Amino acid sequence: MSHQLHRGSILHFPRSTLNPGEHYQYWEDGVLVVSQGKIEFLGAATEFFAAQPDAAQLPIEQHQGLIIPGLIDSHVHYPQVEIIASYGKQLLDWLNTYTFPAERQFANAAYASAQAVFFLKQLFAHGTTTASVFATVHPQSVNSFFEAAERYNARMICGKILMDRHCPDFLQDTPEQGYRDSKQLIEQWHKQGRALYAITPRFAPTSSEAQLAKAGQLASEHPDTFIQTHLSENTNEVQWINELFPDHSDYLAVYEAHGLVRERALFGHGIHLTDREYIGLAQAGATISFCPSSNLFLGSGLFNYQRALAEGVSVALASDVGGGTSLSMFANQADAYKVCQLQQTSLSPFESLYLCTQGAAQSMGLADKVGNLNVGTEADFVVLNLNATPMLSQRVQHSRNLSDTLFALTTLGDDRLIAKTYIAGQQVYQQGQYDVATDI
Ligand code: GUN
Ligand code: ZN
Repeated sequence: MSHQLHRGSILHFPRSTLNPGEHYQYWEDGVLVVSQGKIEFLGAATEFFAAQPDAAQLPIEQHQGLIIPGLIDSHVHYPQVEIIASYGKQLLDWLNTYTFPAERQFANAAYASAQAVFFLKQLFAHGTTTASVFATVHPQSVNSFFEAAERYNARMICGKILMDRHCPDFLQDTPEQGYRDSKQLIEQWHKQGRALYAITPRFAPTSSEAQLAKAGQLASEHPDTFIQTHLSENTNEVQWINELFPDHSDYLAVYEAHGLVRERALFGHGIHLTDREYIGLAQAGATISFCPSSNLFLGSGLFNYQRALAEGVSVALASDVGGGTSLSMFANQADAYKVCQLQQTSLSPFESLYLCTQGAAQSMGLADKVGNLNVGTEADFVVLNLNATPMLSQRVQHSRNLSDTLFALTTLGDDRLIAKTYIAGQQVYQQGQYDVATDI
Protein backbone atom coordinates (compact mmCIF):
# COMPACT_ATOMS: atom_id res chain seq x y z
CA MET A 1 0.00 0.00 0.00
CA SER A 2 1.97 3.04 -1.17
CA HIS A 3 -0.51 5.90 -0.88
CA GLN A 4 -3.58 6.20 1.31
CA LEU A 5 -6.16 8.85 0.54
CA HIS A 6 -8.43 10.15 3.29
CA ARG A 7 -11.29 12.49 2.50
CA GLY A 8 -13.48 14.39 4.94
CA SER A 9 -13.63 17.60 6.96
CA ILE A 10 -10.17 18.49 8.25
CA LEU A 11 -9.05 20.92 10.96
CA HIS A 12 -5.57 21.70 12.30
CA PHE A 13 -3.25 24.53 13.38
CA PRO A 14 -0.35 24.66 10.96
CA ARG A 15 1.92 27.02 12.91
CA SER A 16 2.87 28.28 16.32
CA THR A 17 0.46 31.08 17.25
CA LEU A 18 -0.80 33.11 20.19
CA ASN A 19 -4.15 33.33 18.45
CA PRO A 20 -5.35 29.84 17.46
CA GLY A 21 -8.86 31.16 16.74
CA GLU A 22 -7.46 32.98 13.70
CA HIS A 23 -4.65 30.70 12.64
CA TYR A 24 -6.32 27.40 11.94
CA GLN A 25 -6.86 25.66 8.61
CA TYR A 26 -10.22 24.03 7.93
CA TRP A 27 -11.59 22.29 4.87
CA GLU A 28 -15.14 21.09 4.89
CA ASP A 29 -14.22 18.74 2.04
CA GLY A 30 -10.51 18.07 2.43
CA VAL A 31 -8.01 15.43 1.40
CA LEU A 32 -5.13 14.01 3.39
CA VAL A 33 -2.66 11.80 1.53
CA VAL A 34 -0.34 9.51 3.47
CA SER A 35 2.71 7.83 2.04
CA GLN A 36 5.15 5.70 4.05
CA GLY A 37 3.78 6.93 7.33
CA LYS A 38 4.08 10.62 6.49
CA ILE A 39 1.68 13.23 5.20
CA GLU A 40 2.26 13.91 1.54
CA PHE A 41 -0.65 16.21 0.75
CA LEU A 42 -3.15 18.26 2.73
CA GLY A 43 -5.71 20.56 1.19
CA ALA A 44 -9.09 21.06 -0.42
CA ALA A 45 -10.53 18.08 -2.31
CA THR A 46 -11.21 20.30 -5.33
CA GLU A 47 -7.59 21.42 -5.43
CA PHE A 48 -6.33 17.86 -5.04
CA PHE A 49 -8.50 16.33 -7.76
CA ALA A 50 -7.86 19.24 -10.15
CA ALA A 51 -4.11 18.68 -9.85
CA GLN A 52 -4.37 14.85 -9.88
CA PRO A 53 -7.34 13.88 -12.03
CA ASP A 54 -6.17 10.22 -12.05
CA ALA A 55 -6.48 10.08 -8.27
CA ALA A 56 -10.25 9.80 -8.64
CA GLN A 57 -9.64 6.14 -9.65
CA LEU A 58 -7.67 5.33 -6.48
CA PRO A 59 -9.29 3.78 -3.42
CA ILE A 60 -10.22 6.57 -1.09
CA GLU A 61 -11.37 6.41 2.47
CA GLN A 62 -14.34 8.72 2.92
CA HIS A 63 -14.73 9.82 6.55
CA GLN A 64 -18.04 11.21 7.77
CA GLY A 65 -16.57 12.98 10.78
CA LEU A 66 -13.89 15.57 11.42
CA ILE A 67 -10.21 14.71 10.91
CA ILE A 68 -7.81 16.35 13.38
CA PRO A 69 -4.19 15.67 14.38
CA GLY A 70 -3.60 12.92 16.95
CA LEU A 71 -3.96 14.44 20.39
CA ILE A 72 -1.01 15.03 22.71
CA ASP A 73 -1.13 14.41 26.46
CA SER A 74 1.85 16.24 27.96
CA HIS A 75 1.79 14.55 31.39
CA VAL A 76 0.35 11.15 32.32
CA HIS A 77 1.32 8.18 34.55
CA TYR A 78 0.78 4.80 32.91
CA PRO A 79 1.14 2.80 36.16
CA GLN A 80 -1.70 4.80 37.70
CA VAL A 81 -4.45 3.85 35.26
CA GLU A 82 -5.62 1.18 37.68
CA ILE A 83 -6.08 3.71 40.52
CA ILE A 84 -7.96 6.34 38.51
CA ALA A 85 -11.00 7.50 40.52
CA SER A 86 -9.64 6.74 44.00
CA TYR A 87 -11.63 8.47 46.71
CA GLY A 88 -11.09 11.09 49.28
CA LYS A 89 -7.46 12.26 49.38
CA GLN A 90 -5.35 15.24 48.42
CA LEU A 91 -1.92 14.93 46.84
CA LEU A 92 0.43 13.76 49.60
CA ASP A 93 -2.06 11.34 51.18
CA TRP A 94 -3.20 10.20 47.75
CA LEU A 95 0.40 9.28 46.85
CA ASN A 96 0.88 7.25 50.04
CA THR A 97 -2.53 5.59 50.04
CA TYR A 98 -3.08 4.69 46.41
CA THR A 99 -0.15 5.58 44.16
CA PHE A 100 2.90 4.05 45.79
CA PRO A 101 1.28 0.63 46.38
CA ALA A 102 0.12 0.57 42.73
CA GLU A 103 3.57 1.47 41.45
CA ARG A 104 5.18 -1.31 43.48
CA GLN A 105 3.67 -3.91 41.13
CA PHE A 106 5.78 -2.63 38.24
CA ALA A 107 8.84 -4.37 39.65
CA ASN A 108 7.30 -7.30 37.77
CA ALA A 109 8.12 -6.87 34.07
CA ALA A 110 5.24 -9.08 32.91
CA TYR A 111 2.79 -6.99 34.89
CA ALA A 112 4.34 -3.80 33.51
CA SER A 113 4.11 -5.07 29.93
CA ALA A 114 0.44 -6.01 30.26
CA GLN A 115 -0.37 -2.62 31.78
CA ALA A 116 1.66 -0.78 29.11
CA VAL A 117 -0.35 -2.44 26.33
CA PHE A 118 -3.64 -1.74 28.13
CA PHE A 119 -2.65 1.90 28.63
CA LEU A 120 -1.62 2.42 25.00
CA LYS A 121 -4.86 0.90 23.71
CA GLN A 122 -6.77 3.21 26.02
CA LEU A 123 -4.78 6.22 24.83
CA PHE A 124 -5.60 5.41 21.20
CA ALA A 125 -9.26 4.85 22.09
CA HIS A 126 -9.26 8.38 23.53
CA GLY A 127 -7.60 9.83 20.41
CA THR A 128 -4.20 10.42 21.98
CA THR A 129 -1.23 9.41 19.84
CA THR A 130 1.67 11.09 21.68
CA ALA A 131 2.16 11.40 25.43
CA SER A 132 4.83 12.29 27.93
CA VAL A 133 4.59 9.35 30.29
CA PHE A 134 5.88 8.66 33.80
CA ALA A 135 6.83 5.02 34.35
CA THR A 136 7.88 3.90 37.86
CA VAL A 137 11.23 3.75 39.62
CA HIS A 138 11.81 0.31 38.05
CA PRO A 139 13.85 0.43 34.82
CA GLN A 140 11.87 -2.52 33.43
CA SER A 141 8.72 -0.39 33.58
CA VAL A 142 10.30 1.84 30.93
CA ASN A 143 11.43 -1.10 28.81
CA SER A 144 7.91 -2.55 28.95
CA PHE A 145 6.41 0.76 27.91
CA PHE A 146 8.76 1.48 25.01
CA GLU A 147 8.53 -2.10 23.76
CA ALA A 148 4.75 -1.78 23.58
CA ALA A 149 4.92 1.68 21.95
CA GLU A 150 7.41 0.36 19.41
CA ARG A 151 5.01 -2.36 18.30
CA TYR A 152 2.47 0.35 17.43
CA ASN A 153 5.21 2.64 16.07
CA ALA A 154 3.83 5.39 18.36
CA ARG A 155 5.73 8.57 19.16
CA MET A 156 6.00 8.42 22.92
CA ILE A 157 8.08 10.07 25.60
CA CYS A 158 8.80 8.11 28.79
CA GLY A 159 11.24 7.96 31.67
CA LYS A 160 12.15 6.07 34.81
CA ILE A 161 11.15 7.85 37.99
CA LEU A 162 14.06 8.97 40.17
CA MET A 163 13.28 8.97 43.89
CA ASP A 164 15.61 8.25 46.76
CA ARG A 165 13.71 9.47 49.86
CA HIS A 166 10.33 10.23 51.45
CA CYS A 167 8.66 7.26 49.86
CA PRO A 168 8.50 3.54 50.76
CA ASP A 169 11.84 1.67 50.73
CA PHE A 170 10.59 -0.66 48.01
CA LEU A 171 10.28 2.31 45.61
CA GLN A 172 13.63 3.95 46.30
CA ASP A 173 16.70 4.07 44.11
CA THR A 174 19.94 5.92 44.94
CA PRO A 175 21.51 8.90 43.18
CA GLU A 176 24.14 6.67 41.59
CA GLN A 177 21.83 3.77 40.64
CA GLY A 178 19.15 6.11 39.32
CA TYR A 179 21.77 7.85 37.19
CA ARG A 180 23.16 4.58 35.80
CA ASP A 181 19.74 3.12 35.04
CA SER A 182 18.54 6.32 33.36
CA LYS A 183 21.69 6.58 31.27
CA GLN A 184 21.34 3.02 30.11
CA LEU A 185 17.70 3.61 29.19
CA ILE A 186 18.63 6.79 27.29
CA GLU A 187 21.25 4.89 25.32
CA GLN A 188 18.82 2.07 24.62
CA TRP A 189 15.70 4.04 23.75
CA HIS A 190 16.16 7.77 23.13
CA LYS A 191 15.53 8.50 19.44
CA GLN A 192 15.26 4.79 18.65
CA GLY A 193 12.39 4.74 16.17
CA ARG A 194 9.83 7.15 17.59
CA ALA A 195 10.83 6.77 21.26
CA LEU A 196 12.06 9.79 23.22
CA TYR A 197 13.45 9.71 26.74
CA ALA A 198 12.50 12.02 29.61
CA ILE A 199 14.74 12.39 32.67
CA THR A 200 12.13 11.98 35.40
CA PRO A 201 12.80 13.11 38.99
CA ARG A 202 9.30 12.49 40.45
CA PHE A 203 9.26 15.82 42.34
CA ALA A 204 11.75 17.58 44.57
CA PRO A 205 10.43 16.18 47.90
CA THR A 206 11.30 12.60 46.88
CA SER A 207 14.80 13.40 45.58
CA SER A 208 17.80 14.40 47.68
CA GLU A 209 20.00 17.27 46.46
CA ALA A 210 22.52 14.58 45.48
CA GLN A 211 19.93 12.90 43.25
CA LEU A 212 18.77 16.16 41.70
CA ALA A 213 22.44 16.89 40.93
CA LYS A 214 22.70 13.53 39.16
CA ALA A 215 19.53 14.28 37.20
CA GLY A 216 21.11 17.59 36.18
CA GLN A 217 24.26 15.75 35.12
CA LEU A 218 22.17 13.48 32.90
CA ALA A 219 20.43 16.53 31.42
CA SER A 220 23.73 18.16 30.54
CA GLU A 221 25.19 14.94 29.14
CA HIS A 222 22.05 14.34 27.05
CA PRO A 223 20.82 17.84 26.17
CA ASP A 224 18.29 16.65 23.58
CA THR A 225 16.35 14.51 26.07
CA PHE A 226 13.18 15.68 27.78
CA ILE A 227 12.79 16.40 31.49
CA GLN A 228 9.50 15.78 33.28
CA THR A 229 8.54 16.39 36.90
CA HIS A 230 5.97 18.10 39.13
CA LEU A 231 5.95 21.71 40.39
CA SER A 232 3.77 23.65 42.84
CA GLU A 233 0.71 21.44 42.66
CA ASN A 234 -0.53 21.54 46.24
CA THR A 235 -0.04 24.10 49.03
CA ASN A 236 1.11 21.46 51.57
CA GLU A 237 3.67 20.29 49.03
CA VAL A 238 4.97 23.86 48.56
CA GLN A 239 5.20 24.26 52.35
CA TRP A 240 7.15 21.01 52.52
CA ILE A 241 9.56 22.27 49.85
CA ASN A 242 10.24 25.37 51.95
CA GLU A 243 11.15 23.11 54.88
CA LEU A 244 13.22 20.65 52.85
CA PHE A 245 15.10 23.22 50.79
CA PRO A 246 15.45 26.32 53.02
CA ASP A 247 18.42 27.58 51.00
CA HIS A 248 16.40 27.92 47.79
CA SER A 249 14.19 30.95 47.24
CA ASP A 250 11.24 29.01 45.82
CA TYR A 251 10.21 25.63 44.37
CA LEU A 252 11.45 26.27 40.83
CA ALA A 253 14.83 27.43 42.21
CA VAL A 254 15.43 23.89 43.48
CA TYR A 255 15.20 22.57 39.93
CA GLU A 256 17.10 25.55 38.48
CA ALA A 257 20.02 24.92 40.85
CA HIS A 258 20.54 21.57 39.13
CA GLY A 259 20.10 22.60 35.50
CA LEU A 260 16.64 21.05 35.22
CA VAL A 261 14.78 24.09 33.88
CA ARG A 262 15.22 24.40 30.14
CA GLU A 263 13.50 23.82 26.82
CA ARG A 264 11.74 20.44 26.67
CA ALA A 265 11.41 20.47 30.48
CA LEU A 266 7.75 19.76 31.27
CA PHE A 267 6.49 20.77 34.73
CA GLY A 268 3.18 19.27 35.80
CA HIS A 269 0.65 21.62 37.46
CA GLY A 270 2.41 24.96 38.30
CA ILE A 271 -0.62 26.18 40.24
CA HIS A 272 0.87 28.06 43.20
CA LEU A 273 3.70 29.95 41.49
CA THR A 274 5.41 33.12 42.66
CA ASP A 275 5.96 36.04 40.28
CA ARG A 276 9.60 35.04 39.98
CA GLU A 277 8.77 31.45 39.06
CA TYR A 278 6.66 32.55 36.08
CA ILE A 279 9.61 34.63 34.89
CA GLY A 280 12.07 31.78 35.45
CA LEU A 281 9.94 29.35 33.46
CA ALA A 282 9.43 31.82 30.61
CA GLN A 283 13.09 32.76 30.35
CA ALA A 284 14.16 29.12 30.28
CA GLY A 285 11.63 28.18 27.59
CA ALA A 286 10.21 25.50 29.92
CA THR A 287 6.60 24.30 29.79
CA ILE A 288 3.81 23.94 32.32
CA SER A 289 1.52 20.97 31.82
CA PHE A 290 -1.96 22.21 32.69
CA CYS A 291 -3.72 19.23 34.30
CA PRO A 292 -7.26 20.51 34.88
CA SER A 293 -9.10 17.31 35.76
CA SER A 294 -6.36 16.30 38.19
CA ASN A 295 -6.13 19.76 39.73
CA LEU A 296 -9.85 19.68 40.42
CA PHE A 297 -10.06 16.03 41.49
CA LEU A 298 -7.16 16.21 43.96
CA GLY A 299 -8.38 19.60 45.19
CA SER A 300 -5.04 21.14 44.25
CA GLY A 301 -6.26 24.50 42.96
CA LEU A 302 -6.94 26.53 39.81
CA PHE A 303 -4.09 26.91 37.34
CA ASN A 304 -3.96 30.48 36.09
CA TYR A 305 -3.71 29.85 32.36
CA GLN A 306 -4.11 33.47 31.28
CA ARG A 307 -1.41 34.59 33.70
CA ALA A 308 1.01 31.97 32.37
CA LEU A 309 0.23 33.12 28.83
CA ALA A 310 0.74 36.79 29.73
CA GLU A 311 4.08 35.92 31.34
CA GLY A 312 5.19 34.14 28.15
CA VAL A 313 5.26 30.67 29.72
CA SER A 314 4.59 27.88 27.31
CA VAL A 315 1.61 25.70 28.31
CA ALA A 316 0.42 22.28 27.15
CA LEU A 317 -2.65 20.36 28.27
CA ALA A 318 -2.40 17.09 30.18
CA SER A 319 -4.59 14.42 31.76
CA ASP A 320 -2.28 13.49 34.68
CA VAL A 321 -4.16 10.19 35.04
CA GLY A 322 -4.43 8.68 37.67
CA GLY A 323 -4.72 12.02 39.51
CA GLY A 324 -6.76 13.11 36.51
CA THR A 325 -10.14 11.53 35.93
CA SER A 326 -10.08 11.00 32.16
CA LEU A 327 -7.56 10.15 29.46
CA SER A 328 -9.76 12.09 27.04
CA MET A 329 -8.12 15.33 26.00
CA PHE A 330 -11.66 16.50 25.19
CA ALA A 331 -12.82 15.92 28.78
CA ASN A 332 -9.69 17.72 29.92
CA GLN A 333 -10.43 20.65 27.61
CA ALA A 334 -13.88 20.84 29.19
CA ASP A 335 -12.35 20.96 32.66
CA ALA A 336 -9.80 23.55 31.51
CA TYR A 337 -12.63 25.78 30.32
CA LYS A 338 -14.39 25.50 33.68
CA VAL A 339 -11.15 26.27 35.56
CA CYS A 340 -10.86 29.46 33.49
CA GLN A 341 -14.53 30.29 34.10
CA LEU A 342 -13.93 30.11 37.85
CA GLN A 343 -11.22 32.74 37.43
CA GLN A 344 -13.31 35.00 35.17
CA THR A 345 -10.93 34.31 32.26
CA SER A 346 -11.56 32.84 28.84
CA LEU A 347 -10.48 29.71 27.01
CA SER A 348 -11.84 29.35 23.50
CA PRO A 349 -12.28 25.88 21.97
CA PHE A 350 -9.62 26.76 19.39
CA GLU A 351 -7.19 27.60 22.20
CA SER A 352 -7.90 24.44 24.16
CA LEU A 353 -7.59 22.22 21.08
CA TYR A 354 -4.33 24.01 20.23
CA LEU A 355 -3.03 23.17 23.75
CA CYS A 356 -3.29 19.45 23.04
CA THR A 357 -2.18 19.51 19.38
CA GLN A 358 0.13 22.07 17.76
CA GLY A 359 0.74 24.07 20.96
CA ALA A 360 1.80 20.97 22.87
CA ALA A 361 4.03 19.85 20.00
CA GLN A 362 5.60 23.31 19.85
CA SER A 363 6.31 23.21 23.60
CA MET A 364 7.97 19.85 23.17
CA GLY A 365 10.00 20.83 20.10
CA LEU A 366 8.11 18.23 18.07
CA ALA A 367 6.04 20.39 15.73
CA ASP A 368 7.98 19.18 12.70
CA LYS A 369 6.78 15.65 13.55
CA VAL A 370 3.38 15.67 15.28
CA GLY A 371 0.61 17.98 16.49
CA ASN A 372 -0.44 19.21 13.05
CA LEU A 373 -1.16 17.78 9.61
CA ASN A 374 1.49 19.67 7.69
CA VAL A 375 3.07 17.96 4.68
CA GLY A 376 6.16 16.02 5.79
CA THR A 377 4.97 15.34 9.34
CA GLU A 378 4.20 11.90 10.76
CA ALA A 379 0.68 10.77 9.86
CA ASP A 380 -0.87 10.53 13.34
CA PHE A 381 -4.50 11.59 13.12
CA VAL A 382 -7.93 10.99 14.53
CA VAL A 383 -11.42 10.95 13.02
CA LEU A 384 -14.10 12.39 15.29
CA ASN A 385 -17.68 11.16 15.17
CA LEU A 386 -19.88 14.25 15.43
CA ASN A 387 -22.87 11.99 15.98
CA ALA A 388 -21.19 10.12 18.85
CA THR A 389 -24.21 10.55 21.11
CA PRO A 390 -27.77 11.75 20.45
CA MET A 391 -27.11 14.79 22.63
CA LEU A 392 -23.95 15.74 20.73
CA SER A 393 -25.57 15.10 17.40
CA GLN A 394 -28.50 17.38 18.16
CA ARG A 395 -26.23 20.06 19.60
CA VAL A 396 -23.98 20.02 16.52
CA GLN A 397 -27.01 20.39 14.24
CA HIS A 398 -27.76 23.63 16.05
CA SER A 399 -24.22 24.99 15.73
CA ARG A 400 -23.91 28.35 14.07
CA ASN A 401 -20.27 28.01 13.05
CA LEU A 402 -17.09 25.97 13.51
CA SER A 403 -16.30 27.53 16.88
CA ASP A 404 -19.73 26.52 18.15
CA THR A 405 -19.29 22.95 16.93
CA LEU A 406 -15.83 22.69 18.39
CA PHE A 407 -17.00 23.97 21.74
CA ALA A 408 -19.80 21.40 21.81
CA LEU A 409 -17.26 18.66 21.01
CA THR A 410 -14.91 19.78 23.78
CA THR A 411 -17.68 20.18 26.34
CA LEU A 412 -19.55 16.96 25.59
CA GLY A 413 -16.76 14.81 24.17
CA ASP A 414 -15.02 11.79 25.60
CA ASP A 415 -13.80 8.50 24.14
CA ARG A 416 -17.16 8.01 22.37
CA LEU A 417 -16.11 10.88 20.11
CA ILE A 418 -13.22 8.91 18.63
CA ALA A 419 -14.27 7.05 15.49
CA LYS A 420 -10.79 6.07 14.29
CA THR A 421 -7.20 6.61 15.34
CA TYR A 422 -4.24 6.36 12.94
CA ILE A 423 -0.56 6.17 13.83
CA ALA A 424 2.01 6.77 11.10
CA GLY A 425 -0.82 6.11 8.65
CA GLN A 426 -1.82 2.77 10.23
CA GLN A 427 -5.21 2.45 11.85
CA VAL A 428 -4.80 1.39 15.48
CA TYR A 429 -8.33 1.95 16.77
CA GLN A 430 -11.86 1.85 15.48
CA GLN A 431 -14.76 2.84 17.72
CA GLY A 432 -15.30 0.05 20.26
CA GLN A 433 -12.57 -2.17 18.77
CA TYR A 434 -9.32 -2.08 20.69
CA ASP A 435 -7.38 -4.56 18.60
CA VAL A 436 -7.49 -3.07 15.14
CA ALA A 437 -3.70 -3.10 14.80
CA THR A 438 -3.03 -6.67 13.76
CA ASP A 439 0.60 -6.92 14.84
CA ILE A 440 -0.01 -6.84 18.59
N1 GUN B 1 3.55 14.70 42.62
C1 GUN B 1 4.47 13.73 42.80
N2 GUN B 1 4.08 12.57 42.26
C2 GUN B 1 2.88 12.78 41.71
C3 GUN B 1 1.96 11.96 41.01
O1 GUN B 1 2.17 10.77 40.78
N3 GUN B 1 0.80 12.55 40.61
C4 GUN B 1 0.54 13.86 40.84
N4 GUN B 1 -0.61 14.38 40.41
N5 GUN B 1 1.38 14.65 41.52
C5 GUN B 1 2.54 14.12 41.93
ZN1 ZN C 1 1.66 13.76 37.56
